[in-house]
Amino acid sequence: MSDLTPSKVLDRVLVLEMVRVTEAAAVAASKLVGRGDEKAADAAAVEAMRKAFDELYMDGTVVIGEGERDEAPMLYIGEKVGGAPGKGPKIDIALDPLEGTTITAKAGPNALAVLAAAEEGCLLNAPDTYMDKLAVGPGYPEDIIDLAKSPTENVKAVAQAKGVDPSDIVVCVLDRDRHADLIAELRGLGCGVVLIGDGDVAGVIAVTDPDTTIDMYMGQGGAPEGVLAAAALRCVGGQFNGRLVFRNEDEKERARKWGIADEDFDKIYKLDELARGDCIFAATGVTDGSLLEGVKRLRGGKMTTESVVMRASSGTVRWIRGEHHKG
Ligand code: FBP
Repeated sequence: MSDLTPSKVLDRVLVLEMVRVTEAAAVAASKLVGRGDEKAADAAAVEAMRKAFDELYMDGTVVIGEGERDEAPMLYIGEKVGGAPGKGPKIDIALDPLEGTTITAKAGPNALAVLAAAEEGCLLNAPDTYMDKLAVGPGYPEDIIDLAKSPTENVKAVAQAKGVDPSDIVVCVLDRDRHADLIAELRGLGCGVVLIGDGDVAGVIAVTDPDTTIDMYMGQGGAPEGVLAAAALRCVGGQFNGRLVFRNEDEKERARKWGIADEDFDKIYKLDELARGDCIFAATGVTDGSLLEGVKRLRGGKMTTESVVMRASSGTVRWIRGEHHKG
């Protein structure tokens, strides 16, 4: 490890191998699609992901995980993962073995097994609070979006840069009561509002894919999911603003514990403040969605998976289709 330059650190964990980890979690969770049991689906994904990490030559630390040590038996924040503790390259990992537990339980769209990996200290250790999120795809002038401005101002700025009317802009928003005013404001502008039931990692990434026709993402979702989505946008382009939202003193205390200073409680984080340096984003579909196909369980024990792995330093995006014969 000591002879590696920082830019080589992620090479040593074999970027492609990260897909094995998300594949394992997705395959395990897929057994529980539509079974109405969020907890069992999550537990299956967590256990499979934990096991798959042991196969990787790295000295990993979970910086965004399933919760704190006393509330998560596995993949808790601070847990060491990887098969080479003390020897392999030091890697920080943000993970969500099952992003979309309710989706999985109800067999809805866009459930993913997802992780981001970066050199030590490069991912924001986001507490499990909410985050205000604002995202736009690639190709716009820098700082075209600004969370300090109103939704209307942001839509108008993006519309002007795109050369269209604000009513031509399509915005993805989580379907929650807390977003009623936001949705009314966007509809007042004539925007198309794509409401998603869950899964805002896929929702944010959707802005980068012209096929989705989604221009922007807006609204509050989980802060850990914000860091994961930011890692993906670091690799494929696009802009993202995130601001932590605290509902009580306990959440602020958690944030302080993970190194967030009081003066940063209202800070608007941009992409490279959420995921700095080189980073990898990997995801495997659990159920069919805008980003990936879900796991297909076919006759004779065969299964197929679809995954994506991207890397910030090279901008490489690899789509990987797997065939598996047991699981
Ligand atoms: P889970 O997989 O933990 O159920 O998260 C799903 C999700 O929809 C995230 O994508 C999103 O960031 C968050 O929940 C939103 O939280 P809430 O359901 O409390 O609005």
